[in-house]
Order: sequence, then structure tokens, then C-alpha cells
Amino acid sequence: MTTLNYLMLYEDRGIELEYAEAQYVWDSSGRKYLDMHTGHGVAFLGHRNPHILKSLKNQLDKLMVSSTSFRVRVRDEMLEVLSKVVPNRYAYVYLLNSGSEAVEFALKVARIFTNRKKVIYFTNSFHGRTFGALSVTYNQRYRKGFEPLLPETVAVKFNDVDGVVKSVDELTAAVILELIQGEGGVNVATKEFVDEVRRRTAEVGALMIVDEVQTGFGRTGSVWAFQQYGVYPDVLIAGKAIGGGFPVSAVFLPLDVGIKLESGIHGTTYGGNPMACAAVKAATEVLISDDVPLKAREKGEKLLKLLKDRLKDVKIVREVRGVGLMVGVELRFEPSKALKDLQNKGVLALKAGATVLRLLPPYLITYEDIDYAVNSIGESLSKQLTS
Ligand SMILES: Cc1ncc(COP(=O)(O)O)c(C=O)c1O
Repeated sequence: MTTLNYLMLYEDRGIELEYAEAQYVWDSSGRKYLDMHTGHGVAFLGHRNPHILKSLKNQLDKLMVSSTSFRVRVRDEMLEVLSKVVPNRYAYVYLLNSGSEAVEFALKVARIFTNRKKVIYFTNSFHGRTFGALSVTYNQRYRKGFEPLLPETVAVKFNDVDGVVKSVDELTAAVILELIQGEGGVNVATKEFVDEVRRRTAEVGALMIVDEVQTGFGRTGSVWAFQQYGVYPDVLIAGKAIGGGFPVSAVFLPLDVGIKLESGIHGTTYGGNPMACAAVKAATEVLISDDVPLKAREKGEKLLKLLKDRLKDVKIVREVRGVGLMVGVELRFEPSKALKDLQNKGVLALKAGATVLRLLPPYLITYEDIDYAVNSIGESLSKQLTS
């Protein structure tokens, strides 16, 4: 018998992870790392957060599997708690299992609600790799070989106000955007741009879909990044942190949109299962009781300031930017070598875009950890000059 190989579609980081707790992971040799990769930003509430673990174990002992055709108590409890962190204008939530799946659902909702097909997306966007999500993901590297994708999807320059005015019209079903582009390079949307997307979509009757899979659930210093822009999207997408490590995503809809969606327009075997509900319920409780957004804001400000100070004279650094605990260091070249060096120093981080070193730490990161990370990044990037 031959043993199967795992299909490696992500870069092999060369270590075997064995154990994790809060903001740290350990490899199989017992080496400890500060985790600013967090499984692509999932473990924002900390690895194996005790409150979330308890909720999951408790649910596991009672009811693990159920279709959403049946009512289950944990779903009602989850809805009650989640309502505390979602503005009143969202009347419905639908749970799915991944960010891409939530994007697919949002795009379907836009078609059904508006009876139109055209979707506007932005340069450097990332919304996932399933066919619909890929159709509104900009990077040609992900798209190559998979065309034709969805028709009537139009890319507009990110932060280009005029581009929005010109491209969003009466044929537009939706505009989809990230407020801080994650995979695309930690690019922050300007207020004028977001205001124009809101104004123009409302004017033509298109839906504004905000993808907060990476920015949502406290990471940027508010529960939702859109709250810092003073606008409400029509469709809000969440993922990653919302399940505290359990695979779950969510789409939030206002009453006028949700009420139009009839039974059968979508379905999901696993979506909204009791374990996912237990995870989201407990994750939301942590978000509230530990004032996670405030901590992300304070620690993020410190991280950004220290990084900017430390890297200001490092020649290979173009810019340090970010919001809350979503931080990017733009380099003059590809960051793989720097990431490897950082890993050897005991800090895990990840790439964004072609040249950005991205940090997505858990909110539990301490000020001591921040000092350690900043020094390690400083050393790694200074070394890249000479090596
Ligand atoms: C903003 C955004 N949307 C969608 C996705 C896709 O999520 P998933 O990988 O869970 O399908 C990601 C993943 O990184 C993301 O950052």
C-alpha cells in the first residue's frame, strides 16, 4: 500500500506544528513561535480560546449534526448573542463554512434581489477562489487557467472615486469590496472612496457588499471595519475569526433583502450546524466580554508605531501601514526570504500581494511580544540588505 501525499497548494513552511495556546504555537521539536500568521488570520481570538473550547466540547456532548430545517437551542442562543455586535439594520444572518462560500452566496443574493448581473470589484481585491469569488478577485495569478469566469464582472481601480462614479450604473447588481484589502497587500480604503461606493450604489439600486472576512470581528479596532467609515453596507460578509477557529462564515442581510429570498435559492449541508453555532456564540461572547476591539486598537497602534520607528531607515522597506491588528510592511522585493528568517527567529507571519509582509496576530499578543516581533522584523529586514 502506498500512502497518500497531501496536495500542497500553499508554500511548505518546513515545520510541523503540534500544539498551540493563545498567541503561541509550538512545533514538533518543542520550539515556540509567536503566531502572527494565525492560519491566515483565523485564530484572532487566540488558539484554543478556553471559552470557545468549552462551548464546543459542551455542544459535542449534546448534538453535533443537524440540518437548519430543525430548530436547535444553540442556534437561538447564538443569534441572541450575535445580535449584540451586529447593527439593528441587519435582520438576517446565514451561516456558511468558508469565506469563499459566503461570497458566492452574497453574489447570488445580489442577482436575485436586483434582477441584474453586473458586479463591480476592485484592483488587488481578494474574495476567494471558487468560481464566483474568483470572478471578483483581481490577481491574475489566481485567475489564470480558469477563464471564462462569471460574465459582467468589471474591475475598477481601488480608491478611485471617479472610477466608481463612471462604472456603477443602472445595470449594476452589486459592488463588492474589502475596506482594508488583506491578501492584496493591506491596502486601506479611503473614506471618500467608500462614501462614493455607498452613495452611488444607493442611487442606482445596486447592493454594496462589504467583505469583512479578514477585517471583521474586532481585528481593526471596531467590531466591523465599516463602523470606522460611518456607512452601512447592504450585505456584510464575515469569516475567519467569527468561529474562533471553527470553520464558519456568515452573511448578514437587511430586512428588505432577506425577506425577498425564497426557500431553495441556496443550501448548505454543513452551514449553520450546531457546532458552528456553538463556536460563533462563544466567539461573540469573548469579543464582548474581553473588549477585543479596544485591545486590537490599542495594541495595533503600538505595533504600527514601533514598526514605523524601527524600520524608518531600513532601505528595503517602502511603507509600514495598517489598521488595528492588521499590519503590512511593504518591501522593495518579494518577502519569502524575510518570512523564513523571521520564522527562524520564532515569529510566524505571512505574505500579502507581491511584496508585503503581513502581520495578523491574535488580540492576546502582549506588549512584550510586540517588542520581540518588532525587533525580530527589524533584524530580519536589515539583514536582507547585506545578504
Ligand atoms: C477578504 C477575504 N474574502 C474571502 C476570503 C476567502 O475565504 P476562505 O479562504 O475561507 O474561502 C478571504 C481569505 O483569505 C479573504 O481574506
